Amino acid sequence: MLQTEEIKLEQSKHGFSGFKIELWKYQGEMGALIPLLQSAQETYGYIPESAIDYISEIVGIPSAEIYGVITFYSQFRLKPMGKNIIKVCDGTACHVNASTMIIRAIESELQIGNDETTEDGLFTLQKVACLGCCSLSPVIMINDETYGRLTPKKAQQLLNEYREQAQKE
Ligand code: FES
Repeated sequence: MLQTEEIKLEQSKHGFSGFKIELWKYQGEMGALIPLLQSAQETYGYIPESAIDYISEIVGIPSAEIYGVITFYSQFRLKPMGKNIIKVCDGTACHVNASTMIIRAIESELQIGNDETTEDGLFTLQKVACLGCCSLSPVIMINDETYGRLTPKKAQQLLNEYREQAQKE
């Protein structure tokens, strides 16, 4: 079992300063892998390769097996999230109001699919089941903002507004 100081040292070797020490007090217990992966993702927003190597060393599970676990669970990400998270609703109300066209328009404008991030790191696209404002369908959210009664054209305009905003920053 590693002591806190040893863990800090190990983490600093891997560039994990400020890592969530508490969750990294691995004591050989079964089932520690998932909490460790969750901890890494909470800290970084995704699970970096270096964290996988580190976890592998600590729990003694080969990195390849850990990759297998990560790709099995949809909650885990191997790449950082984009600056703007787009949640496109494909729930029933939105679906009957042509959410598919909105999704296609966004995918084509950004050249990414579901759960992917644009090359420039500006957008991540996520399809969701319901955003809880069905009367506004079809609906998307970008970060905390909700946009309803969308058309493919309006969706493209919105993306351009976010791009322009990003250029000003
Ligand atoms: S189904 Fe889209 S907001 Fe509810």
